[in-house]
Amino acid sequence: MPAGGPQARIRPRVNATGFPGCREAAAEFASLAGLQQDRPVRMDDLQRAAALRLPAPVIEYFDQGAGDSVSTARAQAAWDRIALRPHTLRDVSRVSTATSVLGQQVAAPVLVAPTAMQRAAHPDGETATARAVAAAGSLMTVSTNAGRTFEEIGAAGAPWWLQVYVLRDRGLTAAMLQRARAAGASALVLTVDTPVVGRKYNAGPSVWDVVPGDFMLVNVPGQETLPAEAIDKADDLTPDIIGWLRECSGLPVVVKGVLRADDARTAVSAGASAVQVSNHGGRQLDLAVATADVLAEIVAAVEGSGAEVYVDGGIRRAEHVLAALALGARAVFLGRPVLWALAAGGASGQGGSDGVADLLTGFADDLAQVMTLAGVRSPAEIGADLVRRSSSS
Ligand code: FNR
Repeated sequence: MPAGGPQARIRPRVNATGFPGCREAAAEFASLAGLQQDRPVRMDDLQRAAALRLPAPVIEYFDQGAGDSVSTARAQAAWDRIALRPHTLRDVSRVSTATSVLGQQVAAPVLVAPTAMQRAAHPDGETATARAVAAAGSLMTVSTNAGRTFEEIGAAGAPWWLQVYVLRDRGLTAAMLQRARAAGASALVLTVDTPVVGRKYNAGPSVWDVVPGDFMLVNVPGQETLPAEAIDKADDLTPDIIGWLRECSGLPVVVKGVLRADDARTAVSAGASAVQVSNHGGRQLDLAVATADVLAEIVAAVEGSGAEVYVDGGIRRAEHVLAALALGARAVFLGRPVLWALAAGGASGQGGSDGVADLLTGFADDLAQVMTLAGVRSPAEIGADLVRRSSSS
């Protein structure tokens, strides 16, 4: 059994003593690995399939960035600029992607970021995602804006963290935290890059014109009748909020939306257990720096503190995951790919939990292969020497 538990992705081996013919070997490998012919996971195909299934304002909402979407467009390119320096002549007959985040075992360091409007991608929304996450041995962050209740999501049995937008009404915020904890949330993820929502441009009708109100914020008691000011996001947050969240919930706090070394140090000094390097998928301040370009300095800033560092934004291939871990991240989070998979993923193309499970297990399989090719057997063996940053970055 792999070190990380029963669900860890282990790269299967073709029986070397039998020297089967090429075709048989390929078939044996594919069936052992559970791989399909269309591996590796192709994100652009998934995105295109989702665009064919969803109303135009919904796919526009998922894919767009703030302003002119410059940060959104730059995100993946920044990962693609990183060059890998694989090891050779290493025994890679057993490779495991298993790791842990805040003490929670996961099958691979590829986790689910919080995103609003999952019910617009699939009627089961966050509940479908949670079922897939449980099946794949992953972990999910549930948005404050979720359209399914914490109790429904918790019942799926996946480990999950609550993403927190602190609302102007702190009493409502506290009630939401307690409800999440009772339903099984094991950490809070405080989003700090959203004192206001970044402006986005819509060519025609926006998502708000086509989806019902109960696709959002269903876990904030009485939200339909509350004045807008009560549920507006707080724009007066300071580092003290981290201690308040910990006290209120008894849960560890991850600070999401950090792009600077000094802010990372401040968050950790104020009691954060982890920071998530993120620019919100380019949906907040346009022209914000790409996460791939600041990850290493943030890792260096909190080194020795015991805090974990995660990253999201533009991660679309297993090679990006390898690069992120080499730059010091403990895990990566996927945003849009999960929405596309919910809408149109899976063998049937029907999305839902099959679509998301297929995305997560496909990523883990791809990561096992990429680690094998890079000469590393576990996430712990992925070191900074595996990457060379290009001089143009
Ligand atoms: C988001 N994101 C987000 N973040 C957050 O903290 N709370 C939220 O409710 C949402 N909602 C949301 C909706 C949609 C449609 C998207 C695309 C994104 C940001 C998300 O957690 C993550 O930071 C980025 O999506 C990561 O980038 P990629 O993987 O989408 O490139």
